[in-house]
Amino acid sequence: MDASSSTLYGCVGNRRFTMRDLQLATDRGERWSMITAYDALTAGIFEGAGIPSILVGDSAASVIFGHDTTLPVTVDELIPLVQAVVRGTHKALVIADLPFGSYQASPAQALETAARFMKEGGAHAVKLEGGASVLPQIELLANSGIPVIGHLGLTPQSVNLFGGYRVQGRGEQGELLTRDAKAMELAGACGVVLEVVPSALAAKVSEILTIPTIGIGAGPATDAQVIVWQDLLGITPDPAPKFVRRYADLRTIMSEAVRAWGADVVSGNYPADEHTYE
Ligand code: KIV
Repeated sequence: MDASSSTLYGCVGNRRFTMRDLQLATDRGERWSMITAYDALTAGIFEGAGIPSILVGDSAASVIFGHDTTLPVTVDELIPLVQAVVRGTHKALVIADLPFGSYQASPAQALETAARFMKEGGAHAVKLEGGASVLPQIELLANSGIPVIGHLGLTPQSVNLFGGYRVQGRGEQGELLTRDAKAMELAGACGVVLEVVPSALAAKVSEILTIPTIGIGAGPATDAQVIVWQDLLGITPDPAPKFVRRYADLRTIMSEAVRAWGADVVSGNYPADEHTYE
């Protein structure tokens, strides 16, 4: 079944997807997908391909702005990307990622940041990283009418604490992660991203929660999957993380096309008559 022929698509018609639609799909046992995007044209392509939810991730720090980690990216840098993705789509649910330092200080700070992403960016939901320490933030956002998605496991904003990008939630840590996930649901979260955790743990959390789990490197049992599009389509250089399946090799396609154009410019083969105005 192609993504756009699912029941989920049938239910929505011409309006945008909502977190409620995705919850109902999960309740029906229907898996769904989320992909990152950071600009209007790319977002429009993904929406046209039948993907119901688009995350403007703080992964923009590396794939757009060239940083080594997600830590440096700011709210002011991400808001224009969210605006572009919203402008480039008319059906997708657009989720804004709250960047490092923009929500951890207090629930009030989280509300102020989330409100900026919704009022200025036009986002329909937000996502934040962390466990028990961000429960008050989740509660205030949810009570303020903001759909909020949690993020557990290998949360990249904590890379310095983890000492690298390594699997999280093994052994006793898994109990803690499971408790955090349930507590997030009770606090009002409408979904939880599980990143790079053992698949058995992700399966257990997905079984326990009623809200959707959205996996990335968390195995096949989560209710949904999310991916960074540059990983999926082969823009990021090798080696890709173990959980990535490359569905295209755009790096090679783009490089060969631009090399051919550069050579045509040098040889005079481009522009030809058909590209030239009288
Ligand atoms: O920033 C991001 O793209 C993310 C996804 C990898 C879940 O948080």
